[in-house]
Amino acid sequence: MTTFVSIGSLTGSIHPSLSGVLTKRKTVLNCPIHGDYEAEGIYLGSILKTQTKCPQCEEDQREAREAVEAVMRQEAIKKEVEERVAKSRVPLEYRTKSFDSFRVLNAEQGKALELSKRFVRGWEKAKAGGYGLLFLGSCGTGKTHLACSIVAALIANHQFLFPKYYRTSEIFSAVRKSYVPGSQTSEDEVLNYFSGIELLVIDEVGVQKGSDAERRILFSILDTRMTSNKPTILLSNLSAEGLCSLLGDRLYDRVRSKCVPALFVGQSMRKPATPDLFD
Ligand SMILES: Nc1ncnc2c1ncn2[C@@H]1O[C@H](COP(=O)(O)OP(=O)(O)O)[C@@H](O)[C@H]1O
Ligand SMILES: [Mg+2]
Ligand SMILES: [Zn+2]
Repeated sequence: MTTFVSIGSLTGSIHPSLSGVLTKRKTVLNCPIHGDYEAEGIYLGSILKTQTKCPQCEEDQREAREAVEAVMRQEAIKKEVEERVAKSRVPLEYRTKSFDSFRVLNAEQGKALELSKRFVRGWEKAKAGGYGLLFLGSCGTGKTHLACSIVAALIANHQFLFPKYYRTSEIFSAVRKSYVPGSQTSEDEVLNYFSGIELLVIDEVGVQKGSDAERRILFSILDTRMTSNKPTILLSNLSAEGLCSLLGDRLYDRVRSKCVPALFVGQSMRKPATPDLFD
């Protein structure tokens, strides 16, 4: 059945061949996939100008388009997250580390893992109060692994968060570069940069005893961060006593009031290199 509805006429200054009455007509058409459907056509005179298509095909195409768009959005998010991970300066070796790949073989590892997850869950509170973490323990016990897993999890969870990872020696060398004649950046600017980072992981604190100048740099950055409520994750191979004597009683006390400690114990988990690496 075809119905005719007049929806106006084209007359006047337009070319005579185009003049005529515009009408809407409904026609039953057949989609090879979905069967009969009612199509609405717009006619100029007797010429069909446009016609609606099978609604089910249109719906299927819309769904397919939306699925493609969703995949593209996911890919864009993934890329953006990868970019922030790269900007965080987490070393390549640790980009694949996660809470899931952290094995719990002793009670301390269990506590450290739970504390790390809790820090990620409670990030808003950590940020508000300037609370961080203090990972102490001998080498190879997973301090860097967990700290980098925290960075990755926070980046994935918080779109506008740019945490940074630095080894203490990298901080010293950045400050030293500001002393080079002609440097565009002053020591103060470098110190302000490290003091202002929203979440800073400082790894290998106290690996070398360091010169007086280096201790002053570390002291300055930590002191500013502790007093201006910037969350810091400190990682050190030193014992609590060793860290206390490196930082001095007063700063160590501040660190202890802002950074929740976790002790890492056990054998080094670093895999020794074996000849089959070359097979
Ligand atoms: N509990 C753990 N489960 C799985 N891998 C671990 C664990 N602890 C350490 N590792 C792995 O051992 C290596 C050394 O760990 P790392 O985090 O660098 O130690 P640390 O920073 O304490 O010296 C890394 O490859 C790390 O992924
Ligand atoms: Mg380490
Ligand atoms: Zn169809």
